[in-house]
Amino acid sequence: MPTFTFSTDRPTDLAVDVLVLPVFEGPEAGPGVKDVKGLDLLGLYSDAGLKGKRGESLLVPNTGTDGLAARAILLLGVGPKAEADADACRRAIGRAAGRLARRKSVATTLPQIVRGNEAPAAVQATVEGLLLGSYRFDRYKSKQDGRPQLGKVTLVGAGKADAKAARAAVERGQVLAESQMWARDLVNTPALDLPPAELARQAQAMAKKVGLTCKIWSDAELTKGGFGGILGVGQGSTRPPRLIELRYAGGGKGAPIAFTGKGIAFDSGGLSIKDAQGMEWMKSDMGGAASILATMRAIALLKPKVNVIAAIPTAENMPSGSAIRPGDVLHHRGGTTSEVLNTDAEGRLVLADALAYLAEKKPRVIIDTATLTGACMIALGPDVWGAMGNDRRLIADVLAAGEAAGEPGWELPMYEPYRRMIDSEIADIKNIGKRYGGAITAAMFLREFVGDVPWVHLDIAGPAFSERPGDYWPKGATGSPVRALVGYVLSKA
Ligand code: BES
Ligand code: ZN
Ligand code: MN
Repeated sequence: MPTFTFSTDRPTDLAVDVLVLPVFEGPEAGPGVKDVKGLDLLGLYSDAGLKGKRGESLLVPNTGTDGLAARAILLLGVGPKAEADADACRRAIGRAAGRLARRKSVATTLPQIVRGNEAPAAVQATVEGLLLGSYRFDRYKSKQDGRPQLGKVTLVGAGKADAKAARAAVERGQVLAESQMWARDLVNTPALDLPPAELARQAQAMAKKVGLTCKIWSDAELTKGGFGGILGVGQGSTRPPRLIELRYAGGGKGAPIAFTGKGIAFDSGGLSIKDAQGMEWMKSDMGGAASILATMRAIALLKPKVNVIAAIPTAENMPSGSAIRPGDVLHHRGGTTSEVLNTDAEGRLVLADALAYLAEKKPRVIIDTATLTGACMIALGPDVWGAMGNDRRLIADVLAAGEAAGEPGWELPMYEPYRRMIDSEIADIKNIGKRYGGAITAAMFLREFVGDVPWVHLDIAGPAFSERPGDYWPKGATGSPVRALVGYVLSKA
């Protein structure tokens, strides 16, 4: 992990390997570009055919320019000036991060593209983009390429910048990026090496390190506690299910914020088996669980004045002689029964128990994240999560937190006439609706278990895992929406 410092020195005075200076679309000089005298930086940039579009960059070596201490300048396109916000910083530096990781020292004026009160958010986003953008998952390569680690990063603020706020923003960015990268590691790890018990062990180790209370529910304890959904989904696998319970106490006697996340170690579909292509990325079906674990880690390190509880169900959905069958009825925590007509709609079955358990604790709100439905990906595409819930204020709050973190969501309607699609002939509810509206009927299934607690469900089937590289993530796990969730909690402290 590089060390970050915040400085209000003149950028040209910094003796670093690379000084990264932003260029707006045009090209138009960004903060710091004009401070370099005796070098027509903008001219070199546009002579190279570059326009300042996001990520368009040019490295200019310092061949003895007077008054310039840096060994080289990286001119970095950030896109239109009118759209220069924190997310533009995260995305632009994310695009350059891989190359910058090879340098011992880097400085940048990038956060200065955002003015006023927003500047700390830009500092935080720059730190996030730099760290997240250099993330690689190479532990399964027999030969590691021994990638050198970025050493020292200096964020250069304007003279009148609030240094205290900027330093806090640097710390937040670091904690968030590290936590999100841990979520990526968990999701990218093959299911072979991450059965429910191992996910639980990793959670326990994390909890010990950062000072969270942790209880792992064994399958015997789950049986005693009436967690029939988690047990039912897990019973086809030789690797038994778990419930991971974490607590953070920062808010005295106040009611906690409650989290849960779908932790399916591998989703084969069970007896309602998926085809080969449908299974290819199903090691990522614990992306919801990973996002909540990483959120809890970040909360423990940032120490907001709130209480938080998480109960994360984890099971492996496999077909076998011991698997649940279509037509079986499960008894969930709290007594509600569900008829399983498709064993591939398993996420809602494990979440039902966790939601019922959390509702017993009388929390302020419950938030769940889940790679729940292909239908949500059809509706909103690969980058945007769907939000559905029973409380307008809570839905608005998480959407705002997502927007602020650069992890956007969009609300889908809980259109009441669809509720009857999950009426069951023989049980309280059935686990599939019709083909159309699948994200909504899945959310309506979950709603049955939260009682009158304000609750919102984030369907992250799209954004949890990316089949293409993005501005600050390689192909694979993204760790989304950790930044949004932590941002929500910080806003409630
Ligand atoms: N884990 C899947 C949803 C999913 C699909 C996530 C593709 C990411 C990429 C979930 O368990 C599932 O199989 N859902 C079914 C529900 C259906 C059987 C009602 C789906 O979406 O097809
Ligand atoms: Zn699934
Ligand atoms: Mn499934």
